Order: sequence, then structure tokens, then C-alpha cells
Amino acid sequence: AGKEKVQWVCCNCGYSAGQWWGMCRSCSVSGTMKEAKFSDADTVVSGFSVLEDGVVGSWLPQQEGEMRPLRLTEVNKGLDHHHWRIPLSGPFGDEVSRVFGGGLVPGSLTLIGGDPGVGKSTLLLQIAAIIAKGDSDGEACPVVYVSGEESVEQIGNRADRLRIESDIYLYSSNDVEDILKKVQYLSPGALIVDSIQTVYLKGIMGSPGGIMQVKECTSALLRFAKKTNIPVLLIGHVTKSGDIAGPRVLEHIVDVVLYMEGEKYSSHRMLRAVKNRFGSADELGVFEMSHSGLQAVSNASEMFLSEQLLDSEILAGLAVAVIMDGSRTFLIEIQALCLSGSTGSRQVNGIQQKRADMIISVLIKQAGLRLQEHAVFLNVVSGLALTETAGDLAIAAAICSSCLEIPIPNDIAFIGEIGLGGELRMVPRMEKRVYTVAKLGYRMCIVPKVAEKALGTEGLEKMEVVGCRNLKEVINTVF
Ligand code: TYD
Ligand code: MG
Repeated sequence: AGKEKVQWVCCNCGYSAGQWWGMCRSCSVSGTMKEAKFSDADTVVSGFSVLEDGVVGSWLPQQEGEMRPLRLTEVNKGLDHHHWRIPLSGPFGDEVSRVFGGGLVPGSLTLIGGDPGVGKSTLLLQIAAIIAKGDSDGEACPVVYVSGEESVEQIGNRADRLRIESDIYLYSSNDVEDILKKVQYLSPGALIVDSIQTVYLKGIMGSPGGIMQVKECTSALLRFAKKTNIPVLLIGHVTKSGDIAGPRVLEHIVDVVLYMEGEKYSSHRMLRAVKNRFGSADELGVFEMSHSGLQAVSNASEMFLSEQLLDSEILAGLAVAVIMDGSRTFLIEIQALCLSGSTGSRQVNGIQQKRADMIISVLIKQAGLRLQEHAVFLNVVSGLALTETAGDLAIAAAICSSCLEIPIPNDIAFIGEIGLGGELRMVPRMEKRVYTVAKLGYRMCIVPKVAEKALGTEGLEKMEVVGCRNLKEVINTVF
């Protein structure tokens, strides 16, 4: 350590000066300037610094000194609308950006959760590369990627495989204090911490990953983000056993919570916003894990259809439903298998049991299908759970197809809710669903009669939109 020098630091805003002031000259709060000692090696960056000798940086202790309410105009004075969000385009198109609500907000703390091995580290390394590269204005700023799990060589290797050449700083550390101290000197465009379960704060009880540590470390990172305006992205593993010390306890602390999902044996990955202080919490990004990292999926709407259905030879018992997830439209395949001779048994996967029972009962009563003499199996391909009633009609169609042993042509899609009288009912965002189907080159789309009238004709020239009042009309049209 070099020579020590004394500085005065405001513990409200981090302003530092060579002398003591009764009122901070930066934030105008009284009695907040505290004495701090620096060694020569520590340079004061952007007005505040981490202090030595256990006196930690101004983001680490709870806020001291009086805060005061600010006028809206005061708050927005320095707001630069152009740089309000950091764009996140690059190889992802706008997949990542959309989930973030249009880009990364400076000073925000984001938690990215997911099962181990789903691809969180990969995604964040790729996001780091995008931020470091800067936007089209050519503004590049370094990004710091801190890992408490891997060595810098391991991260470096991964970056090499992902062909990342942006200005990224790699650091391997578990000590939050140490991390923040090192990071602030670089004043990076973003800080990434992989993962919250592997870092700790000195002086806090418990081991890394424990509930106290996880909470306190997150709070420290939040204060760091707010004070420096550097966006912080935090990885959190979801523990198998549940939520204890998992990212769930952190959801209310952070600004944005994203979850990464994916089936074990599929290369598809989804990034879902479950909380977003700066945008819609109902967004979904879809990706494919390739040998060179995550990539946006070009045919996202069709990605849940099996090859089976895209083939020319079609089996009976398959029907295409059109569902919405976030602002996205997806075509998914419903499979039904009706086995005659064995009574009563119903097994469903990816559909709510009660909904399936209701649809089966309506088919018996209103369409005259003898399903009480059949075992019925239902399955949603892709592992996606069907929660929308808009999928009712496709479920019914798949059951009819299997029961009658007549395949449904693979260029027909079904949209509609089924009522107890067998009538077809309107569902939300009908237009968007129908246009997606048309765009994908389908020949026919079955919709409730009321919806048919509401739809325009533009963009639907090549597809026949057939409005049906009830299940009987559907059966007469399709079979
Ligand atoms: P990883 O990002 O390490 O997951 P997490 O951080 O969520 O634990 O990625 C896990 C898997 O992704 C790993 O099994 C290998 C695979 N992978 C690819 O398929 N392609 C790639 O380019 C990379 C980097 C990883
Ligand atoms: Mg990882």
C-alpha cells in the first residue's frame, strides 16, 4: 500500500472532496460528509470510491443522512432520452431487447434465473458482448463479467467458442466488496455477476448461497447500480428443492426478473419476463442453443410443431392450435389418442384436466361422439402448457380426428373457445392469431362465426377463414 491521504466522502451521494463541508456540495444534504482514508493506489472515480480499512463504499452501508423529496423537474433534468435504454440487438435481433422492455435501463438491477445448465452464463456472456460493442452510434463501453463459479480461463474459452471479440473484462471473485471496488475503476457499461449464490459480503452471517448472504449481496449490488448508474445483471440458480435461498426471495429487491426455460432434450430456450419495473412483465424471447451459443429463432411461431406435422403424411389425432404467449403467437400441436373398448380413462399432458374433461363431455353430448366408450389420451407437443381457452377447438378437433380415424390436413389451424352447448366462442386477440396463421401459409383457419365478421380481408387473401357456430359445423367442414 502506498501513502495514505484523507478525503471527505458524502455518504448520501458519494461526492468526495479534499475538505469537510457542512452541506454536501453535490447533493445539498447536511451532515453527510465523512472522513475516509485512501491509499495511493485508489483513485477516486466519478466522485466516490470504496474506502479502505473496512470502511466500505457508500453503496454498502444503508443510506445515512437525510434524504429529501425531489421535484419531478429536478429528477428529470439530466435525463437523456436517447440513452434512456441501452439497446441489446446484435445476433439476437430484438429477442432479448423485447424481453427487457426495449433495452437495458441504466442503473437497473436484473436477475436472470433458471435451472443449472439451461444456458444463463452463455446468454449473459453474449449480452455482455452486445453491450460492449455499443450501438450503431459507435459508442462502445467495456463490460465486466464477474464469475464466482468459473476461472477467467474457463470464461475466456467459452467466449472464444462464442467468437466474442468485444471489450469484456473477466474477473473471478466471490467477494462483493472486492468486486465492486475493482469494477468501479473501469466505469463499465454493465456489470454481470455469475452467480448470486457464489458471492458473499464480509461481516454478514452465513455462507455464500445462504439466505442472508444472497439477500444482502443483492441489496449491495442494487445500491451500487443506483449510485453508479451502471446496470447490473445477476445470475441466480433455481434450486430443485424450491425457493429457499433461490432467486425467488430476490424478486422483490431487483428491478427486472427474467427466467430462462428449456426442455432438457430440446435446443429451444425461452427467456420470460416475470417482473419488469420498466416494461411489460408478459414478454417472451425464444432462442435456439447452437454450438456457437444462443441464436434467435427465425420461425418462432412454428417452433413447437413436430416434424410429424410438417411432413406430408399425416396421422389421425393431430390438430394445430394458435396460442398467445406474451405478445407472441405460437402454433402448437395437440395430439389425441382415442382407444375404443377401454372405458373411462383420461390422461392429459400439457392441458388442464378439468378443461379436457369438459371438452370431452361436450363432444359426447353436443357432437354425438361415443367417447364414453373410449380411453382418451391428450398431449401438447413441446412441453408447453396450454392455459388458454383458445386451444379448446384444436383439442376437440384432435379428439374427433382420432375417434373418427380421419387425419386433419396439416394446413388447417383452429382457434376458439368451446362453451357447454358446443358453441364456439370468441377469444382475445383473434386478429393477431389469424394473421400469423395466414402468414405461415396455412390454407384454412377455423374460427368462431362471430370472429369471422370482425376480421378484415387484408392479408387474408390466400387463406380461407371459416366461421363456425358450433362443433357440429366444425366437424362437417373438416371431416
Ligand atoms: P451454461 O451457460 O453454462 O448454463 P448455466 O450457466 O445456466 O448453468 O450452458 C449450459 C449448456 O449449454 C452446456 O451444457 C453446454 C451448452 N452450450 C451449447 O450448447 N453451446 C454453446 O455455445 C455453449 C457455450 C454452451
Ligand atoms: Mg453458469
